[in-house]
Amino acid sequence: MSAVRLVELLLTAEIFNRYEELTEDDIPKEIRKLLYNRGGIRRPVTIKEDVVIKYAGKIEQKPPFVDLNAFSKQYILTSFDLAVKWFASRGVERIKKNPALAYYYQNYDSLDVSYEEAKKANLPKHGDREWLRSVIEELEKSEDAKEMLSLVRVMSPEEIPVDFKDVALSEEQLEEVRKIEIALEERAFLRKIGLSDIGKLLFIGPPGTGKTTTARALSKKLYLPLLEVKLSMITSQYLGETSKNIEKVFEIARKMNPCILFIDEFDYVAKMRTSDEHAAIKRAVNTLLKSIDDINLVEDGVLLIAATNHPSLLDPAVWRRFDKVIEFPEPAEKIRMKIFQIFLARIDGDFNIDELVELTDGFTGADIKLVVREAVLKALLEGRKRLSQHDLVEAIQEVKERLKLKTSY
Ligand SMILES: Nc1ncnc2c1ncn2[C@@H]1O[C@H](COP(=O)(O)OP(=O)(O)OP(=O)(O)O)[C@@H](O)[C@H]1O
Ligand SMILES: [Mg+2]
Repeated sequence: MSAVRLVELLLTAEIFNRYEELTEDDIPKEIRKLLYNRGGIRRPVTIKEDVVIKYAGKIEQKPPFVDLNAFSKQYILTSFDLAVKWFASRGVERIKKNPALAYYYQNYDSLDVSYEEAKKANLPKHGDREWLRSVIEELEKSEDAKEMLSLVRVMSPEEIPVDFKDVALSEEQLEEVRKIEIALEERAFLRKIGLSDIGKLLFIGPPGTGKTTTARALSKKLYLPLLEVKLSMITSQYLGETSKNIEKVFEIARKMNPCILFIDEFDYVAKMRTSDEHAAIKRAVNTLLKSIDDINLVEDGVLLIAATNHPSLLDPAVWRRFDKVIEFPEPAEKIRMKIFQIFLARIDGDFNIDELVELTDGFTGADIKLVVREAVLKALLEGRKRLSQHDLVEAIQEVKERLKLKTSY
């Protein structure tokens, strides 16, 4: 088995090196993640002993057409043709899952493999944690970018803790998500017809209604890395730096493409504007607006999402730069029901969710989360892991008191 894997590695590298039209997406995820270097996979790819050990384990006996250079610790094929032939009779199942190999073998003898099929089964590289890490390492070589990266949060879709199905969204919200999905799939078509003003979303709504959660869950669903930044964070006390920071963030997003650039606390732009008529601030705001103008999903592969809970602070110049405004209102009954279902799904107990929904008019998703947490903690305190309806109703009353406090000051 390990010899088959070893030869698969060597053939994949050799074929990738020979055919320039192949990209990282043509290398299986399991192999790819061992080969990232300086933000991607660079030709010529060489296969070192440590990579072989990780992928194939210890090699007891190498086939006669494979050599290990004791000095460079590099494995090489002494005969490509022999390797191809040898692998054809032993590795068909692997070829079917390896686009680079399928590309080569689909015209080979009567092997029943298809490049298209293999490609479909292989996840794209931009979802790999290892790819993202390697892009970041490369970026960190520049001092500017390094500083910037400390202010942004970068997550690979594999690292996002929340599933899209665990976010309760309305029909309208879901439809917008579907449009983005389609736009992503049809990027080439949209570019061709010159429709590039797509993919700038503004999420508006009160605190705790799921804006941040939705942006993160989207990263997982669309399988795109997420670059998350709070606008207040990149506004430097040294005003001249702010413009530079903004430019850097957009530049990083471009380098990570395709990705989602999520700018939270977007209303901060309004604060920037009114705080002072200082020229540097004006410049920073203009840089931000211009950066937004200059980036788009179709050309750059960057989906921009900005979120705010003070939409009224945004002036028309900001507003019109977004092609879609998605509202996150206080959740209606139907959504509250979904939220309860999501939060209670893994909790033992008999619940009357209809009643809970009725009692929580005006509650946000965050409030409901609090209700469930309170109820669970209280039950645990009493030595129970099973929740009752009563626990929840009581917790709702408690949270209601708290919400009253919030509004009375
Ligand atoms: N529609 C929803 N579906 C599932 N969970 C939700 C929903 N709305 C809120 N939540 C929960 O509430 C918590 C807070 O939500 P989130 O941080 O996304 O709110 P937000 O709209 O970004 O708030 P803010 O404006 O304060 O940043 C999250 O942990 C999430 O689990
Ligand atoms: Mg938020």
